[in-house]
This record gives sequence, C-alpha cells and structure tokens, in this order.
Amino acid sequence: MQQQNKETLILGIETSCDETSAAIVADGSRTLSNIVSSQVELHARFGGVVPEIASRQHLLLVNSIIDDALTRADLTFKNIDAVAVTQGPGLVGALLIGVATAKALAYALRLPLVAVNHLEAHLYANYLSGAPRDYPAVVLIVSGGHTELLLLEGAEQLTALGCTRDDAAGEAFDKVARVLELGYPGGPLIDKMATHGNPAAIDFPRALLNNNGEDYNFDFSFSGLKTAVINHLYHARRRGENINIPDVVASFQEALVDVLVEKTVAAARAHSAKVVMLAGGVASNSRLRLRLQEQLKKDLPAVILHHPPLELCTDNAAMIAAAAYPHYLARRFAPLNLNAHPGLNLCSPG
Ligand code: KG4
Ligand code: ZN
Repeated sequence: MQQQNKETLILGIETSCDETSAAIVADGSRTLSNIVSSQVELHARFGGVVPEIASRQHLLLVNSIIDDALTRADLTFKNIDAVAVTQGPGLVGALLIGVATAKALAYALRLPLVAVNHLEAHLYANYLSGAPRDYPAVVLIVSGGHTELLLLEGAEQLTALGCTRDDAAGEAFDKVARVLELGYPGGPLIDKMATHGNPAAIDFPRALLNNNGEDYNFDFSFSGLKTAVINHLYHARRRGENINIPDVVASFQEALVDVLVEKTVAAARAHSAKVVMLAGGVASNSRLRLRLQEQLKKDLPAVILHHPPLELCTDNAAMIAAAAYPHYLARRFAPLNLNAHPGLNLCSPG
C-alpha cells in the first residue's frame, strides 16, 4: 500500500502486561495493521501473569512483532511519522521493554516519540471501531488492573468520576476463577460457565451500591465480593454441601455486573451523556454488555451504547497509536529520556 498524502502514520507499541503488540494506524482512525502476540499460555500454569516471564517474552518478540506490523501494512520505517508507546500503567519490567524499543526507534529514525497512557488508549478502541464522537460521553474502563468510570466532555477533556478502591473487576474474575480452579484468565471462562448457572442463586454483596443521596459516589470495590465467594465455598464445603459451580460463578458475575451497570447508568444520567462506551478486557463480558444495553434502553433510551469488538477490548497497539494521534497533532512529544510509569492512572494523573 502506498502512503497517501497528508495521512499521518503512527507506529504504536504496547508491552504493559502479557500482550506484545505493534500496530500502524493512519490519522488516528484507520488501522493498517495490529499484530498481537498473547502470552496467556505461558502464564496459565501459574494462574496469573508472572512479571519476569512477561518482560523476557516481550524482549524476545518485540522487534519481530514491529517488523510484522510494517510488513502487514506494506510499509517500511521510512513511511512512519511518529512512534507511540505505552508509558503506563502496567508491570514496570514489561513497560520498560516497549519504552526502550520506542526510544531507540525514535532516536535512530529521527522521529517524534509519543508517550501514551494505557487507560486513555483503551477508550480510543471505541473510536477505532466507529463510536460517535459526541459529548458528553461516559466511559467505563474495566480491565485486569483497572476499573474507572470517566467523563469525556469534549475531545481530550477527560476526567475521572470514580475508580476502584481495591481489586479491579478483571482481577476479581481472575481470582474467583483461581479459587475455583477454572483456569486463567478467569473472565472469559466465568462468562461462559455463568450461562449455565442461576444468577439469583446466591445473594453476594454489591459494595458501594446503596450509598444514595449526598454520599453517592462512582467508586467501586470488589475485594469484599471476592472474599464473600471464598467464604461461601469454605462454609459449603465444611457443611459437606454439594456446590453448584455454575450457580456460584453466575451469582458472582451478577453481583459485579449489577454494580458496574448501576453506576454507569447513574453517571450517564447525572452528566446528561449522549454516549456510553465500554473499554478494557472485561468490556467483552456478555452479561455486562446485555445488562447495560437493557438498563440504558429502559432508563435513558436516547443514549447510544458502544463497545469495541473483542479483539480491541483486550490489550493491543492499535489503540495506543490511535490515542497518540491527538498528542501528535498538538506536538506533545516525549523526551528521549522517557521513563516507564507503572502507577500512571486517570484518577490521579502523574
Ligand atoms: O484489558 P485487558 O486485556 O488487560 C489489562 O489491561 O488488564 O484485560 C484483561 C482482563 C482479565 O482480567 C480477563 O479475565 C478479563 O479482562 N476478561 C473478561 C472477559 N474477557 C477478558 N472478564 C469478564 N468476562 C470476559 N468475557
Ligand atoms: Zn489493558
């Protein structure tokens, strides 16, 4: 493919957790390539991501993944206008591989370097998949490491409405799956198994849901729910009861989804949102998508719900390149001594 006049081609690099990914996106919206190598199988036998293994695997793969992204797009380094990389949040060793690679490329190719917040990038997966750019918009980011409810009042006018106070939504899925020895990552397995269970079988707690009136906030807390599942299993085993695992996971998922749906709809109402967007790995949860769609249709029928396709919900570099585009246009470039920022988030930036 020939580079078209005026199109800005950004090479995105993502290595924040257990996916090594490189992508080329034109003008922040047209994905020319998006190569993702998942390490899930490497980490599965440990029941979670092992940071040291993740870093080593990124190091082994990152250069060839970048080559693949160029080849798939039928481009060479000469066609690229900027290099974008995830600065954080994530695992420090994993982030450093991407950051060091991006800095080396930017230096050698004399290209501008753009540092991207991984959470902000998850939001851009929506725009890569046709979400309307209407404001105000409410965005629920639910991933393995983060649960954040955001308000977007205009392009780049992003503020956090609420965050998790402890476990992230995806973390809760993964930990409950680990306790039940279902495998890793737990989210997709629980999603599937829950379709065979009764979501009303066990009344697990819905934290921070009933704080109506002045106390109302958009924060989340899922560690109590995880503990309630563990306690339920412990007591049932002690009493010698038969445990219906599909019922347990369906009831757990329902409690978690109840909180996500209620708070997202309340935020959309409070801020007169025109659009609600989902992002992050847990955004691919079928129950969350269905329940949110139903609740919005009932309470706020004019609001448009958008969620990215499955492959853009989980970590990928196309969303990094897309998120970098406004920074590129505003010439917000990173210095060549850029460092990884594992604790970066949108609730308390910096
Ligand atoms: O966004 P992501 O790929 O990585 C992070 O940035 O954390 O999210 C991964 C998380 C994992 O916790 C995984 O269990 C969860 O997303 N997940 C799901 C589903 N698919 C992935 N959780 C619930 N239901 C799913 N269908
Ligand atoms: Zn992510």
